[in-house]
Amino acid sequence: MRVLLIGGGGREHALAAKLAASPRLTTLICAPGSPGTEAVATNAVLDVGDHKAVIDLCRIQSVNLVVIGPEAPLVAGLADDLAAAGIAVFGPTADAARLEGSKGFTKELCDRQGIPTAAYGRFNNAPKAKAYVRQQGAPIVIKADGLAAGKGVTVAMTVEEALAAIDDCFEGAFGDAGTEVVVEEFLEGEEVSFFCLCDGKTALPLTSAQDHKRVGDGDTGPNTGGMGAYSPAPVFDAGMQARVMDEIIAPTLKGMAALGCPFTGVLYAGLMVTTEGPKLIEYNVRFGDPECQVIMPRLSGDLLPLLKAAADGELGDATTRWTDDAALTVVMCAPGYPASPKKGSVIGGLDKVEALENVTVFHAGTAMRDGELIANGGRVLNITATGGTVSEAQARAYQAVNAIDWPEGFCRSDIGWRAIARER
Ligand code: AMP
Ligand code: GLY
Repeated sequence: MRVLLIGGGGREHALAAKLAASPRLTTLICAPGSPGTEAVATNAVLDVGDHKAVIDLCRIQSVNLVVIGPEAPLVAGLADDLAAAGIAVFGPTADAARLEGSKGFTKELCDRQGIPTAAYGRFNNAPKAKAYVRQQGAPIVIKADGLAAGKGVTVAMTVEEALAAIDDCFEGAFGDAGTEVVVEEFLEGEEVSFFCLCDGKTALPLTSAQDHKRVGDGDTGPNTGGMGAYSPAPVFDAGMQARVMDEIIAPTLKGMAALGCPFTGVLYAGLMVTTEGPKLIEYNVRFGDPECQVIMPRLSGDLLPLLKAAADGELGDATTRWTDDAALTVVMCAPGYPASPKKGSVIGGLDKVEALENVTVFHAGTAMRDGELIANGGRVLNITATGGTVSEAQARAYQAVNAIDWPEGFCRSDIGWRAIARER
């Protein structure tokens, strides 16, 4: 099979590595890819926003399947245009991608399908949103409706903070994403991410993970795209998974099909495990980054036929197998991340790390300059390790981090703390 993988972050490097291991793969093209994907694929220069150019590349290269990594091309309708051109694509249509692209859309779906989630109000002006906040009190959660690169959510511990967040949204802090605001009940519990492959009708459960969104140790400082992750999440046992499939995932697929936009691709449920049971915080319509980097190393067997079956609406009773190992990834970042990452510092020592057993380095924001690897983004490297326990995977991952020669880079030193506290 000839596959085009869209994207160039750590998530796509992890997907590329897994796809490259498939006996069914003949050619893998990554656009744009990264210095990491270069080792397992051919990187292509392609303007992913130019859908005709993507289709032309697929025709010239006889691509049998396009796998779309990030959310932006999905929300922009790349999957729709590929499907219209008769090219098999793994990833939802723009209409189905509203599950991530519009928080209001997802909340309404939850209402219609009786899916457990936080109580909420939806507002298109500040005075009404503020009145609702004053009536509900704090803590309370303010969300810009649209895509805001993970920055559109304020968990407000006071009413004042909530009112300020409402002003930010309506004053344009998140552009068009903030012209509508969702105000939500604060949910207490443990957060977990759960991933399923979907073919429009059927959902095939994958596995769970937990990430670390704050930049600093002890979950402090500003939010980021994710500073590290591990899989599986100990809180998410088989009973919990069955409940989530039944109460959240199945009614979502049913509701989407009823709306005429059946969901194909990865459904990534952000969940809060509360004393009343699991509740949906949000959906994403793609693999998590860096969660994908800990899921792929645990998947036994071939990813490619699963993605193709999902794209073709033929998941049927496909199954997956998982190693008993835990996987953990530490994200190494450029100085100044998340506010203003400084690009250009030189990274060495990857060869030493790649020789370590049960350790893999996935490239996120890297580039080559004059034959040297440099930092070229905020999140730069994902140091991923497996082990019999999360503690073991963590020890290996940090041993590898210490072997990397990149004095400017930084990372959190406590990835996995919650699971490790349980293991102890
Ligand atoms: P989101 O972008 O929707 O994932 O929100 C970012 C983060 O805000 C989530 O990962 C949670 O940690 C937190 N959050 C979002 N909604 C709620 C909620 N209703 N209650 C508590 N925390 C929330
Ligand atoms: N790590 C969070 C995300 O991918 O949205």
